[in-house]
Amino acid sequence: MTDKELMRLFDSMDIQERVDQMVQINVQFYESGEFSTGPAAGFGIEPEDARQAGTILNVIGAERTRHVQDLHMAGQKHRVPLMFMADIIHGYRTVFPIPLGQGAAFDPEAAEEAASIAASEAYASGLTVTFAPMADLARDARWGRCLESCGEDPYLNSLMAAAMVRGFQGANAGAPGKIAACVKHFAGYGAAEGGRDYAAVELSPRTLEEDYLPAYRAAVDAGSELVMCGFPTVDRVPCTGSRYLLTETLRNRWGFKGLVISDWASIDEMIAHGFAEDHRDAAHKAALAGVDIDMGTGSYSNNLASLAREDPAVARWIDEACLRVLRLKNKMDLFENPYRGADPEAEKRLHLCPAHRAKARELARKSFVLLENRDGILPLRKSSRVAHIGPYVDEKTVCGGWAVFNDDSDNVTVRQALEARSGVTSTVCLRGSYITDGYDLTLGQIAKPNITFSFDGARAQKLLDEAEAAAREAETVVLYLGEHPVFSGEGGSSSQIMLPECQLELLRRVRAVNENIVTVLFTGRPMDLRRVRELSKAVLCVWYPGTESGNAVLDVLYGDAEPGGRLSMSFPYTAGQSPLSYRELRTGRAPKELPDRFTSRYLDVPIGPMYPFGYGLTYTSFKYSAPTLSAPTLTEQTPITVSVTVENTGTRPGTELVQLYIGDNFASVARPGRELKGFTHVFLQPKEKKTVRFTIREDMLRFFDIDMRFKSEPGAFTAYVGANSATRNAVKFDLA
Ligand code: NOJ
Repeated sequence: MTDKELMRLFDSMDIQERVDQMVQINVQFYESGEFSTGPAAGFGIEPEDARQAGTILNVIGAERTRHVQDLHMAGQKHRVPLMFMADIIHGYRTVFPIPLGQGAAFDPEAAEEAASIAASEAYASGLTVTFAPMADLARDARWGRCLESCGEDPYLNSLMAAAMVRGFQGANAGAPGKIAACVKHFAGYGAAEGGRDYAAVELSPRTLEEDYLPAYRAAVDAGSELVMCGFPTVDRVPCTGSRYLLTETLRNRWGFKGLVISDWASIDEMIAHGFAEDHRDAAHKAALAGVDIDMGTGSYSNNLASLAREDPAVARWIDEACLRVLRLKNKMDLFENPYRGADPEAEKRLHLCPAHRAKARELARKSFVLLENRDGILPLRKSSRVAHIGPYVDEKTVCGGWAVFNDDSDNVTVRQALEARSGVTSTVCLRGSYITDGYDLTLGQIAKPNITFSFDGARAQKLLDEAEAAAREAETVVLYLGEHPVFSGEGGSSSQIMLPECQLELLRRVRAVNENIVTVLFTGRPMDLRRVRELSKAVLCVWYPGTESGNAVLDVLYGDAEPGGRLSMSFPYTAGQSPLSYRELRTGRAPKELPDRFTSRYLDVPIGPMYPFGYGLTYTSFKYSAPTLSAPTLTEQTPITVSVTVENTGTRPGTELVQLYIGDNFASVARPGRELKGFTHVFLQPKEKKTVRFTIREDMLRFFDIDMRFKSEPGAFTAYVGANSATRNAVKFDLA
């Protein structure tokens, strides 16, 4: 419809109808197939208002969305269609690796393609908006939601967030096959204190700006139609009530024109934060801060219209927000086409089609990080006698959190992949142990409702005995170990980041009879791998690989593909080192090589991470030359280049991820020791050499100075070019 028609529609709506557009109800209202007023009670919303709500969460599927749209339209005086939203984070029916794994692929183009495939599948199922990308920076392995993040680095996260927005939306989110993106959780959610989900965030303004905000900003600049605000308080103000974040930063400074949606019930949670007196006050504060849509509570529905009578600012806000919702609906073509893409035939054609599966398999392989490979035990020879053992051999739940619309039965297990693989001989496949130490976990709704892990001690012994016998006979044992996905994700924080004892026991028992162990690790977070490293010759971190899990894992284990990933988060030795980032500020008491008590370190673990950000091995080896500069000094007008020559010194072809870090040697404020500023993949045949060049521009050296101005300062810098964030391959340069 034209904007004029849209304005006519808007003018015909009364104030409560306008507020209704600012309300999001959820799937429960339609669970019976009809509109049901039952959930309205828990929601604290009048049934007739809930029926009018402008957007809905988690109703998806072509038949369902068409049906619900029909029911909705039947009760719509102005024929304003419902807008369908859901969490399509790393795939819809075809699931790609978790975002932490996608970050490890260091391949924004591949992430864009994955998001584009997810959009096409979700579009066919009637979806209009996805709550992704999640651009929260994650530095704390204890935080369960690090799996939804692309990791600890602002530069990598920014590239990934922008790529995902482009993938979901294309050039126009309203075009066929595209959906609108909603970057979240604005802002700083990843810095939850102690890694405990929903806990307060305490960040200095400089750290917030320099480290945490860039990825959201990149998504906004890439055109994300929506922004979701976070649950926590940042500097003691809930994000949902933060005028500083939602209006001054997002809209005024960054020029964001789209919709801001609360997180689930986060408007009401401001009461629990002690920031709002009651629901009415919470609604008032959220509206004044800049929240357009109330997800999951009745606070807007019940209070905004009457608040508008007392406060003209609220009245203005209602009009602005309602218009924004109507405009997005119009952009997404819902007025002309209320079913939008919902098409059962397209669902059949697209969902899990071979082309999508092939892309999921490819991205999974690119995300796997080879952490250890002693004695060149990997890749496996197809003819060798390998025992494949572990709870993940038959595990179908391999997509990790927020693969809400994945059906386990579509996922390929290791056993299935082995059976389908030609040329692999003499293999045995055994479970070896339970996946957890055995207790009932009734908190696991994110992965499966009320999941129960049974544990029978006698059976556990039998599994171990069988594993030991098989390991004795094998040349090599591949152990498939890991956390069950319910132990990470939302509400999945953990004070320990160890494998369950039953799995460690399996590792010990196998090691007692066979030292050729390859551990394949399924995880949604960095883990404490001290035991695993000690007892295994190779360790391959595969995150939660998604639908094509088993196939992708075997592709890499048998050398049909390289392990393509590099760590997107540092792996600490132990949870006690969290949070951890290579970008941490330098201390006056830097740890020294020689033992010195009075340095900034823990006495009981080595200095730094066990595996640093950017780290990962390949099946070959590379040698770097010392970096050289095109000129020793750059100016604002004249960039310089830094070059290295990389040589494949091994016997197999391989791809190296060459990384550029820059450190500001001294400045008006303390700066991180180094920051990632560029990376590139280089494919080299054995003995082949290539020169890799990075441009260094003045704008890459900017930061928030002592007066909070974003600018560079002349002086000395160091460029590091190497294989990971701990590289010492460095050269100094100056900014004039
Ligand atoms: C709560 C989560 O924090 C958010 O990421 C998600 O998009 C919403 N629930 C909706 O499911």
